[in-house]
Amino acid sequence: MTEKNNPTHESNENIVWHSTAITREQRAEQKNQKPCVLWFTGLSGSGKSTVANAVEAKLFEAGFHSYLLDGDNVRHGINKDLTFSDEDRVENIRRIGEISKLFVDSGLFVLTAFISPFIADRQMVRELVGDAEFVEVFIDTPIEICESRDPKGLYKKARQGEIKHFTGIDSPYEAPENAEIVVKTAEMNIEQCALYVLDALKAKGFC
Ligand code: ADX
Repeated sequence: MTEKNNPTHESNENIVWHSTAITREQRAEQKNQKPCVLWFTGLSGSGKSTVANAVEAKLFEAGFHSYLLDGDNVRHGINKDLTFSDEDRVENIRRIGEISKLFVDSGLFVLTAFISPFIADRQMVRELVGDAEFVEVFIDTPIEICESRDPKGLYKKARQGEIKHFTGIDSPYEAPENAEIVVKTAEMNIEQCALYVLDALKAKGFC
């Protein structure tokens, strides 16, 4: 619990970490896989969810165990109290980072599809999960293309001033400088994008 939502401001000093009988290594071994987080980042409409879903389908077909966390869905549930202010976006990513870490501990491939616009927050998750198990996937689609796709009509609303703090319009997006995988969706179809990610994962020894 953060100080912000802990009304009594009590510290965590009386909470003791319990070791579990089954280790994370045993959970992964039972599933015969090397878990990691595939952290998809990119503008709204860039294709994060589409590519992440296509990659998960391929992992599933190949017999791997996975879970996909998607921004729009998570914001209907555990993060429905959060807005798109800078502060709430940071909290959004912090919670997703913690949840991803739990899923990796459970032995799964975790695919996350969040704009996650700030470099510092993605770095925070990388450190939380561990560098060796964090694979940043930059869905590198120019804003003009995202805006022309506008699958949810949100760019149009943002341009008309009906949505404030919209990423790429009046809220910043900090592109990754050293992402493990960079996918140019303007140059490949969805199938090619998914295969490209899978090949990169194979080259890294994850599958
Ligand atoms: S993040 O910036 O906090 O990482 P997240 O990925 O959870 O964003 O949610 C982004 C999705 O919320 C977008 O795909 C879009 O459908 C919707 N959305 C609604 N308002 C905004 C906004 N102001 N900026 C960006 N996305 C928005």
